[in-house]
Amino acid sequence: MKMKKILVTRKLIKDSEDKALKIFDAKLNPNDELYSQSRVIEMCQGCDGVLTSLTDKMDKETIDKLPDSIKIISNFAVGFGNIDLEAAKKRGIAVTNTPEVLSDATAEIGVLLILGACRRAAEGIESAREGGWKWSADYLIGKQLTGSRLGILGMGRIGQKIAKIAKSLGMIIHYHNRSKLSPDKEDGAIYHDNLKSLFSVSDVLSICCPATKETENMINKETVEYFPKGAVITNVARGDIVDDDALIDALNRRKIYAVGLDVYKNEPNLNPGYLKIKSAFILPHLGSATKDTRIAMANLAIDNIDEFFKTGNCKNKVN
Ligand code: DGY
Repeated sequence: MKMKKILVTRKLIKDSEDKALKIFDAKLNPNDELYSQSRVIEMCQGCDGVLTSLTDKMDKETIDKLPDSIKIISNFAVGFGNIDLEAAKKRGIAVTNTPEVLSDATAEIGVLLILGACRRAAEGIESAREGGWKWSADYLIGKQLTGSRLGILGMGRIGQKIAKIAKSLGMIIHYHNRSKLSPDKEDGAIYHDNLKSLFSVSDVLSICCPATKETENMINKETVEYFPKGAVITNVARGDIVDDDALIDALNRRKIYAVGLDVYKNEPNLNPGYLKIKSAFILPHLGSATKDTRIAMANLAIDNIDEFFKTGNCKNKVN
């Protein structure tokens, strides 16, 4: 059988690029250039599939202009908010993602956000670097996790792992999810069937749900008022879930005590309002950034294309 031709839009870790070259006639991106949408369309000419990453905006306009030869968009991420699934479906293009392999690494960053925001790590790091700080009984007093209530918005694999670690730190776990989990998956967590009910008991919130039309701006001017005064909001999922202006306003009013963020709308250009808030514990989208996880994700993205061309389907197809 003739080797399938694929475009890989971003540079991958070498092991994964070697794997792609073994299975496919793969066009790689050795300089890791950020391709524009029109460049992706142009580079897809003559290809059977494209391995995209979350930095590729595969909106309707882009997908409509892809050559007919493209049969699969394999996203190098569990999230697929960068791809218009309907537009792809209409053109008969399968879209796949990389679930599970990044759950542990992303949950670790989720817990780091909780710890960093609650224990004022951003201010602490700045003071330690500047020098001249003086220990005192009330210096950089933060919020203790032990005994506080953690609300988890989206209790999928990442949410469940964060719940497990947070529970071991003595937090009491509450969650909202499209459906209630089975008791073994819940592991003692308390289910709330609506946002208001969850947010009103969340001393700390961890956002772990996918970005969809339904979850867009779930944290907004109205819902931010549901939280107890001085709550902490963290987000390891996607920036689209938060209305930044509403959250920044709540931080400035001290309604919300601190934020821990790894993801933003319009990355890498986060809302400058966050930069003015000293307590904001902010990271540059590091959720899945460990070597093992990135290799596992890329290998899965490659396997998804292989499975699709071999069988006509793929277990990680999302559209
Ligand atoms: C994902 O896979 O969606 C992660 O955000 C990538 O780091």
